[in-house]
Amino acid sequence: MGEPEAQPLAAVSRGGADKQARRRRIKWCGCISLSLLLIIIVIIIILIFTVFKVKDPKITMNQVKVTNLDLKLDAVPRIQVRVNMTLAVAMTIKNPNAVTFRFDNTTTTMDYHGTTVAEAYGPPGEAKARRTFPMNITVDFMADRLLSSSELYSDITGGEMNMTSFSIVPGRVNIWNIVKKHVVINLNCSLTIDVRGESVKEMICKRKVKL
Ligand SMILES: *[C@@H]1O[C@H](CO)[C@@H](O)[C@H](O)[C@H]1NC(C)=O
Ligand SMILES: *[C@@H]1O[C@H](CO)[C@@H](O)[C@H](O)[C@H]1NC(C)=O
Ligand SMILES: *[C@@H]1O[C@H](CO)[C@@H](O)[C@H](O)[C@H]1NC(C)=O
Ligand SMILES: *[C@@H]1O[C@H](CO)[C@@H](O)[C@H](O)[C@H]1NC(C)=O
Ligand SMILES: *[C@@H]1O[C@H](CO)[C@@H](O)[C@H](O)[C@H]1NC(C)=O
Repeated sequence: MGEPEAQPLAAVSRGGADKQARRRRIKWCGCISLSLLLIIIVIIIILIFTVFKVKDPKITMNQVKVTNLDLKLDAVPRIQVRVNMTLAVAMTIKNPNAVTFRFDNTTTTMDYHGTTVAEAYGPPGEAKARRTFPMNITVDFMADRLLSSSELYSDITGGEMNMTSFSIVPGRVNIWNIVKKHVVINLNCSLTIDVRGESVKEMICKRKVKL
């Protein structure tokens, strides 16, 4: 007697359980997709503030050595100055980015009392992610330009020459072809060259980065 009645009841309850299970499954799926979406959004936000954030590469002039200084004051037959001067400049480019910083030819010019007396070029290169790239250049001075300066004689007799250097490193940072940024690094330095000691006494640098 209970059997025929129990059958439809079981069927009804089974149908209800199915519906409930489906509803639960849909809810479960929704939860998972929502979590996934949230995780993806969080990852994107983290990427934007870390990997995709282009940081300034830092250029430093570490060492300037006078490798060849030949300054002569000849009194006979008449007072004249002879100059032959070379500087070995050791620079480094520190790349704090998570990707490579590629740069083109670098240019360094030296001014002496407002006149450009030397121009030196460095080859293009790549500073790997979070690495420091060494860049050494040789700066040969143009003797005729130096000699045309009216302050040269007094500077040599005074024992020091003040120079200003301007370095420009044009480059770019490319993050997975999504973020591409041109970066131009500028470094200006004031140097005081000790003529007798054939060394650099003092150096003050200022850098600027254009993103
Ligand atoms: C300058 O000095 C270097 C090395 O001593 C020499 O090779 C070069 O010929 C000199 N240049 C001049 C213009 O005297
Ligand atoms: C650059 O110059 C510095 C200082 O003179 C030297 O220690 C370094 O080995 C040089 N690096 C390269 C790559 O020539
Ligand atoms: C870099 O310098 C080399 C040699 O002077 C030259 O052939 C090349 O075109 C320059 N590249 C750029 C991007 O200026
Ligand atoms: C070179 O610069 C230093 C510091 O700016 C200054 O004290 C000095 O008088 C300058 N020397 C010459 C010869 O201009
Ligand atoms: C370097 O000097 C140049 C020319 O005077 C100027 O345009 C540039 O802004 C200076 N850069 C820095 C970092 O001071």
